[in-house]
Amino acid sequence: MSSLFFTSLLLFFSLVLLPSLNALSHHYYDHTCPNLESIVAREVRLATANDKTVPAALLRMHFHDCFIRGCDGSVLLDSKGKNTAEKDGPPNISLHAFYVIDNAKKAIESTCPGVVSCADILALAARDAVVVSGGPHWEVPKGRKDGRISKASETRQLPAPTFNFSQLQQSFSQRGLSLHDLVALSGGHTLGFAHCSSFQNRIHNFNSSLDVDPSLDPSFAASLRRVCPARNKVKNAGSAMDSSTTVFDNAYYKLLLDGKSIFSSDQSLLSTPKTKALVSKFANEQHLFEKAFVKSMVKMSQIAGAGQEVRLNCRLVR
Ligand code: HEM
Ligand SMILES: *[C@@H]1O[C@H](CO)[C@@H](O)[C@H](O)[C@H]1NC(C)=O
Ligand SMILES: *[C@@H]1O[C@H](CO)[C@@H](O)[C@H](O)[C@H]1NC(C)=O
Ligand SMILES: *[C@@H]1O[C@H](CO)[C@@H](O)[C@H](O)[C@H]1NC(C)=O
Repeated sequence: MSSLFFTSLLLFFSLVLLPSLNALSHHYYDHTCPNLESIVAREVRLATANDKTVPAALLRMHFHDCFIRGCDGSVLLDSKGKNTAEKDGPPNISLHAFYVIDNAKKAIESTCPGVVSCADILALAARDAVVVSGGPHWEVPKGRKDGRISKASETRQLPAPTFNFSQLQQSFSQRGLSLHDLVALSGGHTLGFAHCSSFQNRIHNFNSSLDVDPSLDPSFAASLRRVCPARNKVKNAGSAMDSSTTVFDNAYYKLLLDGKSIFSSDQSLLSTPKTKALVSKFANEQHLFEKAFVKSMVKMSQIAGAGQEVRLNCRLVR
């Protein structure tokens, strides 16, 4: 009798109380927008066919969204009146391809108006960006709501490429993410491009006694210095993040072990035995990297925001 009571109590908690805590669900739009996922996937494929830099942009956009105010679509809002939005804040240099989210939103609004949040569209687009790049597919939990606040000043909360290990650990743990998540998610740097300003600390005036970070492979450092001289005048100069920048693979970890990482933050993953062992594991086994990446992406994509609405246009609050 008492075990039945307990089972009912458990059921009550899991069915009635937990969803009200804003739990996300794989089936959130099953009835209200059954074609959602194919619409988003199509827009990501179309855009990528025209511009190979789109997947990297979408993956980074989702990371930025989740690290500021939780995954609430705040990165998608435009500046308005006196408010400068996140996307116009300092580390915006690589944020682009917002039009992909706009196109997906338009297509979704014409099929299932007013029900799908922009934060969910972005989470799906980031997953599809990995898929079109040859990475793993996974189920994205959905049901996020869009926020109404986006402030350029809050981009200071993002981890910087100059961060050392303890700063990275703190930035991730403040968001409920572990060292395992840190190492797995840094593998997102298998896609995309970095501007000179993001790694110049390693190749010029590293510290008062050395010009170049000695953890960098010397010939790799020399090649970075060639594209990014001390007085760099080329506006969009920089480096690919890894040797196969449009392919989602584990090359990032292999290069990292060879002294060919781009950021100090990447390099710092080698500074503790625990994280270094994970880097080696992911360098040796692509499928272990993929498994870990998927798990950590699902976790990151559930960082709770305080959003309450579903925007009609991802750039504007309702
Ligand atoms: C661990 C802390 C992280 C730091 C310090 C960091 C820093 C950066 C920086 C500085 C850039 C280059 C910006 C530029 O120069 O244009 C960049 C690019 C990128 N980051 Fe990260 N990042 C971190 C974590 C992540 C995570 C968790 C993801 C996704 C899972 C991610 C995905 C990307 C991608 C895909 C790009 C390339 C963007 C493009 O080419 O458009 N990063 N990151
Ligand atoms: C990026 O931010 C800087 C500094 O806040 C701003 O001057 C610039 O216009 C922004 N660039 C883009 C492309 O939004
Ligand atoms: C990491 O950087 C912070 C801030 O600059 C500094 O206080 C700390 O001592 C550094 N930690 C290590 C281990 O270098
Ligand atoms: C410069 O960096 C190297 C390598 O990290 C370190 O051994 C050296 O002590 C640093 N020098 C100064 C003056 O901080």
